[in-house]
Amino acid sequence: MHIPLHIIILAAGAGLRMRSKTPKVLQTIGGRPMIIHVMDTAKQLQPAAIHVVYDPDTDEVQKACAAFEITWAPQAEQLGTGHAVLQALPAVPEDAQVLVLYGDIPLLNASVLRSLVESTEAQIKVLTMNVPDPTGYGRIVRDDDGSIAAIVEERDATDLQKTICEVNSGIILAQKAVLMACLENMASENAQNEYYLTDVLSIAYKKGLQTGSVVAPEAGDLEGANDRIQLAALERRYCWKMSEELLRAGVQLADPQRLDVRGKVTVGNDIYLDVNVILEGEVDLGDGVHIGPGCVLKNCQLAAGTNVHAYSVLEGVRTLGACDIGPFARLRPGTELAAGSRVGNFVEIKNTTLGEASKASHLSYLGDSSIGERVNIGAGTITCNYDGFNKHPTVIEDDVFIGSNTQLVAPVTIGKGADIGAGSTITKDAPAGKLTVGRSKQVTVPGWKRSK
Ligand code: UD1
Ligand code: CA
Repeated sequence: MHIPLHIIILAAGAGLRMRSKTPKVLQTIGGRPMIIHVMDTAKQLQPAAIHVVYDPDTDEVQKACAAFEITWAPQAEQLGTGHAVLQALPAVPEDAQVLVLYGDIPLLNASVLRSLVESTEAQIKVLTMNVPDPTGYGRIVRDDDGSIAAIVEERDATDLQKTICEVNSGIILAQKAVLMACLENMASENAQNEYYLTDVLSIAYKKGLQTGSVVAPEAGDLEGANDRIQLAALERRYCWKMSEELLRAGVQLADPQRLDVRGKVTVGNDIYLDVNVILEGEVDLGDGVHIGPGCVLKNCQLAAGTNVHAYSVLEGVRTLGACDIGPFARLRPGTELAAGSRVGNFVEIKNTTLGEASKASHLSYLGDSSIGERVNIGAGTITCNYDGFNKHPTVIEDDVFIGSNTQLVAPVTIGKGADIGAGSTITKDAPAGKLTVGRSKQVTVPGWKRSK
């Protein structure tokens, strides 16, 4: 008989300990809200439905989870984790198995959840973990036979119970009927006057039901984030895992502790990432890509052999072949660089294609431009693409030489092989193969004397 699995994710708590206006489960790990990590993991179990308990005072959690199919269960007053589960249960069918997850446990993985689902026949099961410092967690109290007799919260624990290092991960699995029967007997006579989900263990035990547990192999993956210190610790753990994945994929990291991955990275062979690189969104790095120290790459696709020098910031950039970027380059969305091209220091590029072997080596702004092959953009060249209302295109054809400190007032086209004299302000199209100069003539004033 197939028993449908329903997952309930608790996400209504305000998270006072974060001291933030943002709901706790929306605090981020690896650039994504904690609850999104939990959702991704929950989905891997292919449940019949995912229910999320949320605080109806704000729609932020619902907005953040818009991409998922969710049955929403409002919890107007946060009266505790047990109360929270009760809000979701009416929408769960009677014959279902219920897995409760917490929205503030982001590093959870599907394999540990599967081991809980597939473990013993106990009527109510909990995922526990052994931690060196159990402060803040519910302690697992076992009877002489080793069965779980109760979970005691930190604030309700005796000094002796406080020394127990096996703690509640918060993840519980039971048939809906069992959970209902136990939750009905729940009371809020405890230090926080809350309805604790954890009480279902002692209630079940007293009813003579069989309680079971799975001890998680890696406690760190089940740690929750209640405050900024725990959040920061989880962020480090997450980044370390990302670094490990890249190392295994053959990437050389100058220091795996000093790489931050906040998204999805796909890699070729022989890639080198120097220290303090941040990778965000979807980043695709081809063979032999070299990223210098302090670079930030967001949603980039870099072809084999691309070399990004120190402290460059790239967003929405695509390179089509080996090219050279930075140091200190700022490349914005829509930048496309062909093989052999070069973008040097203090160059900003936006919505622009740079053709093969073309160069903008220093101090330029190139926006909304189409630049051909073998073009040289002199230092200080600026495309004046914005008239205050609209953006206009600049077209620079193959083999053009733009002298330093040139302003190209768009819309404007520089014809193939043209030269533009340094210091020009170009307001009209420049013909192919000719020298165009657009600057006032130099004069020397006769008889002029400096004032004393
Ligand atoms: C909880 C457990 C503790 C366990 C720890 C693991 C209880 C009583 N305690 O403590 O045994 O060791 O997690 O990390 O369950 N929430 C609601 N509605 C509420 C209260 C909470 O939706 O009324 C949600 C929160 O948003 C959070 C989750 O439930 O995602 C857990 O609540 P939290 O306050 O963080 O519990 P802990 O003190 O961490
Ligand atoms: Ca918590």
